[in-house]
Amino acid sequence: MSKQDFKRKIACIGAGYVGGPTMAIIANKCPEYKVTVVDIAQPRIDAWNSNNLPIFEPGLEERVLAARGKNLFFSTDVDSAISEADIIFVSVNTPTKTFGQGAGKAADLQFIEKTARKIKEVSKSDKIVVEKSTVPVRAADTLDQILHSGEGGPHFEILSNPEFLAEGSAISDMENPDRILIGSKETEKGLEAREELCKVYAHWVPRERLITTNLWSSELSKLVSNAFLAQRISSINSIAAICEVTEASVSEVSNAVGRDSRIGRKFLNAGVGFGGSCFRKDILNLVYLCEFHGLEEVAEYWRQVVAINDFQMSRFVKRITKAMFNTLVDKKIALFGFAFKPDTGDTRDAPALQITLGLLQERAKLCITDPHALPNAKLDLKGCEGTVDFEEDPYRAIEGAHAIALVTEWSCYKDLDFKRIYDLMEKPAFIFDGRNLLDHKALFEIGFNVYPLGKPDLKHF
Ligand code: NAD
Ligand code: UGA
Repeated sequence: MSKQDFKRKIACIGAGYVGGPTMAIIANKCPEYKVTVVDIAQPRIDAWNSNNLPIFEPGLEERVLAARGKNLFFSTDVDSAISEADIIFVSVNTPTKTFGQGAGKAADLQFIEKTARKIKEVSKSDKIVVEKSTVPVRAADTLDQILHSGEGGPHFEILSNPEFLAEGSAISDMENPDRILIGSKETEKGLEAREELCKVYAHWVPRERLITTNLWSSELSKLVSNAFLAQRISSINSIAAICEVTEASVSEVSNAVGRDSRIGRKFLNAGVGFGGSCFRKDILNLVYLCEFHGLEEVAEYWRQVVAINDFQMSRFVKRITKAMFNTLVDKKIALFGFAFKPDTGDTRDAPALQITLGLLQERAKLCITDPHALPNAKLDLKGCEGTVDFEEDPYRAIEGAHAIALVTEWSCYKDLDFKRIYDLMEKPAFIFDGRNLLDHKALFEIGFNVYPLGKPDLKHF
C-alpha cells in the first residue's frame, strides 16, 4: 500500500512504554492505517528505528519489525504527524508533581498541556484526540478548553481510552485484552468519534469487550483499576506480616482466601511491595483528587495502601538485619533482581531501590544482579553513598556474600545451582526470598538459613 492510500492516519505523541507497544499492535492489526509515533526525545526515536529497541518487552521486537517502514513509523517530526493525522493518541508521561501545589501527590500535567497546545498550533483539520495517558478525572475538560481556545479553528473531539497493559506482558495484554474502555461526550459528534475508535480496536477485539462510557467514568476507572490492584497487594502484604509472627503461611492463606470465587486468586502474591511507574503515582493522584474535593476520609483510606507498601519494604530490610545478628556492617549482600517485576528492564519506583538504600544505611556492601535492569539500576544508584557493585552473572555476584536477598522473581533464578552458590558464600549463609520464588526446603537442606516472605523461617541455629 503506498503511503497516500492509507484509509486513516494515526499519530501517537509519546514513544514510551505505552506509546511504542500499543501503536506497534495497532499497526500490525490494522494494515490499512498509517501509524506514526512521535517523541521529542531524539535518542528514544533513534532507538525505535534501530535493532536495539528502547524497551525490553517479550514479543515487541517481532511486532515492530513486522510493521516498521510499512505502516508504522517513528519520528521526531511532531508537527507533520499531527498535521496529517485523523486520530491523535496522547501517550505522554504524567508523573507525580514534585513541586508547588500538590507536590508529591497530584499529577504533573505539563506534558499533556504542552501536547494539547502543540496540537492546536499545528492542526488545520478536525481531529479526534485520544487521552491514552493516565490523567485525573476531568482532564478532558482542560484539553477541550485549550484545544478550542480562541476564534474559529478546527474541531477536536476528545476521547478517553486509558491503557491497562502491564509491563512484561504488554503484547499479550494488548492482543487479548480483558476490555478496552472508551469514554466520550454523549453528543452526536462524541458518539461518532467513539465509533471511529471502536472500529480500530474491532480489528482484533470482540465487540463485547469494548466498554463505552462517558468521559469522566472512563478517566476515573483507570485510577480506580490501579488502586484496586494495588490495594489487593497491600492487603496480602499486611497479612504476610501477621503470618511471620504466627507461623501461618501467606501462600496457604492467599490460596485459601483466593479460592473464594468472589475474591479471586489473582494479585494476591505477597512480596516486598509493589513498584512500577504507576501504582503509587495513580493512588496518590486519587488521594489528591479526594483531598481537593474535601473527601478526607476517602483520601485516608487510599493513603493507607501506599503506607502499607512502604512498611513492607522497610520490614524486609529490618528482617534481614535482625536475622543477621542485628548488624550488616561490611557484610556482602547479593541482591537478586532490580527490575520492579520480571520480564522488564524497567526500574521506576522499584522496591529494589528502597531496599538497596535501606541496606546501605545499615552499611552493608551490595552486589546487584539482574538479567535486564542493570543499566537502569546503575543510573538510579549513581552518586548514592556506600558500596554497590553490579554483576550480570549471579554466580559472581554471590562470591563471598553473607546473604542473598531475592527482590524480583525472574524465573531464571529458580534454575540456579544453589549447592554451587552455597559453597561460594560465607557461612552461615542466608537467603531472604522476598517473592517466595525458590524451593525453601531444598535450600535449607543444602545448608542455607532461609527466610521466606510471610512464612516461618527455616534456620539451622
Ligand atoms: P514514558 O515516560 O515511557 O513515555 C512518555 C514519552 O512521552 C517520553 O518518551 C517523553 O519524551 C514523551 N513526551 C513528553 N512530552 C512530550 C511532548 N510534548 N511531545 C512529544 N513527546 C513527549 O511513559 P509511559 O510509561 O509510556 O506512560 C505514559 C502514560 O501512560 C502515563 O500517563 C502512564 O501513567 C500511562 N500508563 C503507563 C503504563 C505502563 O505500563 N508504563 C500502563 C498504562 C498506562
Ligand atoms: C499495572 C497494572 O497491572 C496495569 O493494568 C496498568 O495498566 C499499569 O499498572 C499502569 O497503569 O501502568 P505494571 O505496573 O506494569 O501494571 O505491573 P503489575 O503486574 O501490575 O505489577 C506491579 C507491581 O505489583 C510489581 O512490582 C509486582 O511485583 C507487584 N505485584 C503484582 C505483587 O507484589 N503481587 C502481585 O500479586 C502482583
